Amino acid sequence: MQVSLVILAAGQGTRMNSDLPKVLHRIAAAPLLHHAMAAGRALEPARTVVVVGHGGEEVAKAALGYDERAEVVVQAEQLGTGHAVAQAAPLLADAPGEVIVLYGDTPFIRPETLQAMLAARAEAGVVVLGFHAADPGRYGRLITEGDALLAIREYKDASDEEREINLCNSGVICASAEVLFRLVEKLGNQNAAGEYYLTDVVELARAEGLSAGVVICDEAETLGVNTRAQLAEAEREFQINARAAALEDGVTLTAPETVFFALDTVIGRDAIIGPNVIFGPGVTIESGAEIKGFCHLEGCHVSRGADVGPFARLRPGAELAEDVHVGNFVEIKNAILDEGVKVGHLTYIGDADIGEHSNIGAGTVTCNYDGVMKHRTVIGKRAFIGSDTMLVAPVTVGDGALTGSGSVITEDVPAGALALARARQVTRPGLATRLMDKLRAIKAAKQKA
Ligand code: UD1
Ligand code: CA
Repeated sequence: MQVSLVILAAGQGTRMNSDLPKVLHRIAAAPLLHHAMAAGRALEPARTVVVVGHGGEEVAKAALGYDERAEVVVQAEQLGTGHAVAQAAPLLADAPGEVIVLYGDTPFIRPETLQAMLAARAEAGVVVLGFHAADPGRYGRLITEGDALLAIREYKDASDEEREINLCNSGVICASAEVLFRLVEKLGNQNAAGEYYLTDVVELARAEGLSAGVVICDEAETLGVNTRAQLAEAEREFQINARAAALEDGVTLTAPETVFFALDTVIGRDAIIGPNVIFGPGVTIESGAEIKGFCHLEGCHVSRGADVGPFARLRPGAELAEDVHVGNFVEIKNAILDEGVKVGHLTYIGDADIGEHSNIGAGTVTCNYDGVMKHRTVIGKRAFIGSDTMLVAPVTVGDGALTGSGSVITEDVPAGALALARARQVTRPGLATRLMDKLRAIKAAKQKA
């Protein structure tokens, strides 16, 4: 069955008190919009239409950043959720199959819940996702009779009796494209808010002799973000779930409550993650790798058997092959470390290729930036870079070559060569003692005077 998504993301989000459009605020290192798109993506939608308005250009860019096949329509004026869906009609009205409407600010809808809604469509022309609210507040209320959904009443328009109902509208709705867009065209705005309510499609469907039904999910899934406090709460919820999922998947988390995942973090079975590890976007950790405490990882790939940290930072483009060792206070950026490379301590490796089983001594720096451009450092296999080597890129160190500690390497080093680039040592016997004695004598004379 073909499914298309309409994701509503035109609202300003006034209560965020922000210059940034609401759906671009991040949880788990990803915009809220990406979370909504991720839930929908699990259904392998044929089309994904994102309705943008406030901050439209930025929101469109974020949508395409997640899915380059996403289509964007602009809702210039925010006249209501029904009006927002209507903006997608020119793209989807003739689409075969189902349409699911999602909100860009509601990050936790599970793919399984959306599947249940599609399944429920066998019984009903329109299917709405509802939940029992602990505090129904200003949510729209679902008015039901047995399994049938009679209407959705917005809080502003509800009678006292209807406000007593605690079965609420999540906003997610599913119907065939043909039915949804036909009904949306008929919506009016004669209501307390003067808006085109998407929710009115339920009564319009019934007036046509179609039925409407409800799928009920957990309230936690429908958590929408309207304020910074809710954004923080959503982050907390996301992390709780991500930690539980990682443990379930066979990942060891020494102190789960201190580890922060991104939306797209991938960690293999039997990996070990120490305390206070932060995952930014784009991280893959393979089976059996170990990330020790206090590491910060982003845009990187750590292969089987590798170990990283404690206190290491892997930045975008860090590729660690099998059995690589990256130790404390090491930063790696845009660099490929082949199998068995060791970078133990206090080192910056940026814009580099390091061949298998090379050893990088403590305090090594790839000097990759000349103030204008970035340059690459290439190190061969089984090379030994002495402690405190400055590798002034562009520079190449051949297979099996060695650099002396404290060298500033500005010229290529051939395979098998030893390069020393530092001042020769001078040793003057007894001079330290004589110098100190002289200085002490000067100090004593000054104190007497
Ligand atoms: C809506 C529902 C309500 C439900 C609640 C759940 C309607 C009429 N009401 O109310 O029944 O309980 O969500 O959170 O549908 N948007 C647009 N363009 C618009 C208006 C809204 O893109 O013109 C987007 C918003 O950016 C937001 C979503 O649609 O992502 C929901 O809009 P919002 O104004 O928050 O709806 P509620 O009043 O909360
Ligand atoms: Ca809302």
